[in-house]
Amino acid sequence: MTIQIRYAKESDSAALGGINVASFRHQLYWGNAFPSIADAQIVPLKEVRALEKMGAPQVHVLTSVDTADRPVGYARWTIPGETNPHRVELSDQAQAMVTNLSSLIPAGVRTPLYEEFFRLMKESRNEYVKEDDMILDFLATLPEAQGKGVGTKLLQWGMEQADARDARVYLEATQDGYPLYSKFGWERLEDLVIDFEPFEGKGQATGVSPACRLKADHSLPRNVQHIRVELPLTD
Ligand SMILES: CC(C)(COP(=O)(O)OP(=O)(O)OC[C@H]1O[C@@H](n2cnc3c(N)ncnc32)[C@H](O)[C@@H]1OP(=O)(O)O)[C@@H](O)C(=O)NCCC(=O)NCCS
Repeated sequence: MTIQIRYAKESDSAALGGINVASFRHQLYWGNAFPSIADAQIVPLKEVRALEKMGAPQVHVLTSVDTADRPVGYARWTIPGETNPHRVELSDQAQAMVTNLSSLIPAGVRTPLYEEFFRLMKESRNEYVKEDDMILDFLATLPEAQGKGVGTKLLQWGMEQADARDARVYLEATQDGYPLYSKFGWERLEDLVIDFEPFEGKGQATGVSPACRLKADHSLPRNVQHIRVELPLTD
C-alpha cells in the first residue's frame, strides 16, 4: 500500500472528524463521556476541532491519504517556537465555526468527565513537557486502514521533524497506540487512570501510561526520556 502524507486542508475537516470518531468510539472513555449519543452528533465537534488545530500557528495537521486522496490517517503535531508555514488560513465560515466550538458539544455529554480529560492532560503536560518539546497531540487511522503502516508513517513524519531540531517528543498514548510508540522507543512515564464512577459512568480506564517518548531518540541520549501513555481518550 502506497502511503501518501500531506498537510490537511480545510476541505478535509469532515473526513478528519470522521476518522476521530471511527477510531476512538470503541474506547471505554467514549461510551462514558458520550453515552447514547450518535456518532453523527459528535462528528461536527471533532470536525471543528480539526479546523481549530489547522489554523493554530504551532500545530501541524497531517493526513495520510489513499490513492483517491481520501484521508485515512490523521495526526496533529505541535512544534513550539516557530510558526507553521503550512498552517491553514481558515475561511470566515470555518473561523466562525471554531469560535462557536463549544456550541457543538452535543446534549447529553457528561461534561464533568469531558473536562476531567482535558484537566488530566493539562496536568501531565505541565509536569513533563518542557518549552522546546514537540508534542504528538493526536494520532489515528481509520479502522479499515489500520495495520498497514499509516500510523507509522505519520509518526515518522514527526520523528524526522524532531530529529532535525534535536527536540524531544511528548505524547499520551492509548493502549491501542502504545505498542507502536514502544516500538519506536518511547517509554512509560506514568499511568493515567480515570475512574468513571464519580462521573456517573461505569468502569475505570487504566492505562498504560506511557507518556512521553520524549523522543526516545535512537541516538541522542539527552532525548531518551519516558513516555506517558495511555488514556483511552480523545479530544
Ligand atoms: C494506534 C494507531 C494509530 C496505529 O495506526 P496503524 O495505521 O494501524 O499503525 P501501523 O499500521 O503503522 O502499525 C503500527 C503498529 O501498531 C500496532 N498495530 C497495528 N495494528 C494492530 C492490530 N490490529 N493489533 C495490534 N497491534 C496493532 C503494531 O505494533 C504495529 O507494529 P507492527 O507493524 O510492527 O506490528 C491505530 O491503531 C488507531 O488509530 N487506533 C485507535 C486510536 C488510537 O488509539 N490512537 C492512538 C492514540 S495515542
